[in-house]
Amino acid sequence: MKTVAVIGLGNRGAMYARRINNQGGKVVAVCDVNESVLNHVGNKLDVPENMRFSSTEALFAQGKIADAIVVASQDRDHYGHAKEALKLGYHVLCEKPVSPIKEECVELSELAEKNGLHMVVCHVLRYAGFYDTIKKVIDSGVIGEVTNIQQTENVGYWHFSHSYVRGNWRREDETTPSILAKCCHDLDLLHYYTGKKCKSVSSIGSRRIFLPENAPEGATLRCMDGCPHAKECPYYAPRLYYKFTWRSIPVYLNRWSLITRLGNPTLAQVKEALAKTSPYGRCVYHCDNDVVENQTVLCKFDGDVNATLTMNASSRGCFRRVHITGTKGELFGRDIDGKFRLNVWGKKSKYVKANVGQGHLGGDSGIIHDFLELLETGKANPRVSFMKETLMSHLMAFAAEESRKNDGKTIYIEE
Ligand SMILES: NC(=O)c1ccc[n+]([C@@H]2O[C@H](COP(=O)([O-])OP(=O)(O)OC[C@H]3O[C@@H](n4cnc5c(N)ncnc54)[C@H](O)[C@@H]3O)[C@@H](O)[C@H]2O)c1
Repeated sequence: MKTVAVIGLGNRGAMYARRINNQGGKVVAVCDVNESVLNHVGNKLDVPENMRFSSTEALFAQGKIADAIVVASQDRDHYGHAKEALKLGYHVLCEKPVSPIKEECVELSELAEKNGLHMVVCHVLRYAGFYDTIKKVIDSGVIGEVTNIQQTENVGYWHFSHSYVRGNWRREDETTPSILAKCCHDLDLLHYYTGKKCKSVSSIGSRRIFLPENAPEGATLRCMDGCPHAKECPYYAPRLYYKFTWRSIPVYLNRWSLITRLGNPTLAQVKEALAKTSPYGRCVYHCDNDVVENQTVLCKFDGDVNATLTMNASSRGCFRRVHITGTKGELFGRDIDGKFRLNVWGKKSKYVKANVGQGHLGGDSGIIHDFLELLETGKANPRVSFMKETLMSHLMAFAAEESRKNDGKTIYIEE
């Protein structure tokens, strides 16, 4: 049985740790700077106290104590944590985005290769049934050569407000631009579907909603400071965070711990934090956010393949829509439907079904399955996104951001 250490026990790290234990691996060590979270998750996973570390320095000082490390800390820490792990001889499963700096991505790719180690990046959508089936249909050749792809990522107004206005990914200087943080796996899919290099990118984007000038008259800085718009505001924090409804954030993202910074908070502690201290209790029009809310990226791939990706905060649901055309047919659908329409010219139109699981529609368990299999056998499922291949998605995101900041100028990608 392969052993794993996990760095960062938040939403992603705790989820990966659970899946590793359930899917045939063993989490033997955990690390988080938040001791309350560290001990809560450590207890749940039955990790002995001497294998719980409250800093990566303490974890790495042990040398190599597992076969692999999951890096699920925040965006700007991935590079340092992955680099240290690779230097010590660990295989690495690293959350995306790897880094907003090209040289750091290249360095990690080279280091993994030099040390003969696997560094896999969590482009989890590749492993979800919907996208896995699309890739197989494209590779079967039934729609001919791919000519054009249109993909839309509908983030959901409530999800965007949580992560990109009030939350961790609201500021480019602290994390990364939203096109990298949110969409590097969409850009990866464009590259993955086509199997081709992206040659050039141009992009436009904007912020129109979460701005101080859009605050309704008299809105208070925190929702629970007696805001007169509490009844009708869709972003009123208690409405989004207390109740477990289909659109409530605790259900989707298990975020009570994030709101309070406690391992296992009660509702009373959540209420207290939202009222007084938590960034998630702030008025969405009065935050210090700066990442764009909608962005369109236009890509030119080798082989004269064209693609667009649009990310948009303004949607009710959280889903992606895909339309891929080829020289002999097309396919289109929404990932949450678990099926897509396949039209081959001259043949009867049909639906192709795909499994829809939990956690990125099954992608979260899929990546753990393939990663553990890779550790056990040394053989990689073709869908596994190693660091070297991941470079393309990140270069596309860097180019998109450069273009957006330069009035949509075309940026040519150099590897
Ligand atoms: N692959 C995907 O689809 C996907 C989805 C969401 C988030 N992410 C990425 O996953 C990463 C984690 O996101 P999350 O939602 O779990 O965030 P989170 O805030 O819930 O969890 C991060 C955890 O890391 C801990 N931490 C911070 N600095 C640390 C350090 N120096 N050493 C050890 N622990 C540290 C924090 O205390 C926290 O518990 C982010 O980089 C995010 O961009 C990827």
